[in-house]
Amino acid sequence: MTSPPATTLPVDFEIGIAELDAQHKRLHGLLERLREAVGKHYGFATIAILDELSIEARIHFAVEESLMRMLSFPEVGSHITEHENLRGQLEKFRKRAQDFEVADDLAAFIQQWLNDHVDRFDRDFVDHFLRAGVDPRAAPESP
Ligand SMILES: [Fe+2]
Ligand SMILES: [Fe+2]
Repeated sequence: MTSPPATTLPVDFEIGIAELDAQHKRLHGLLERLREAVGKHYGFATIAILDELSIEARIHFAVEESLMRMLSFPEVGSHITEHENLRGQLEKFRKRAQDFEVADDLAAFIQQWLNDHVDRFDRDFVDHFLRAGVDPRAAPESP
């Protein structure tokens, strides 16, 4: 059994706000690990990575949603609905993983969702955030 080929970050994955880009890269890294675990049928590893991914996604969504509310981003409602959709999908996948029923395309589906979401939704708030004074270079210190 071969694992699925590693995906690369889309060229335009970065939105230009370093803190959020760092979080997106971390989510992407977890998805790479998930693809590998699913491809090798590592059931317990899949569950552990899904749990980690759910926590990281919740943190990331909470950060974006707080910023959107505090900076009065007009499209905050539809953006939060998109986040809720993925939170729901992740919960469904977690239940299936518990029964070792995870489909091989699980990670690919989530990864596609993340890429599309960053491109279609996250990119929309960038200009608004920058105009509101968000420092695009502020980033977490590297470990
Ligand atoms: Fe995001
Ligand atoms: Fe988002």
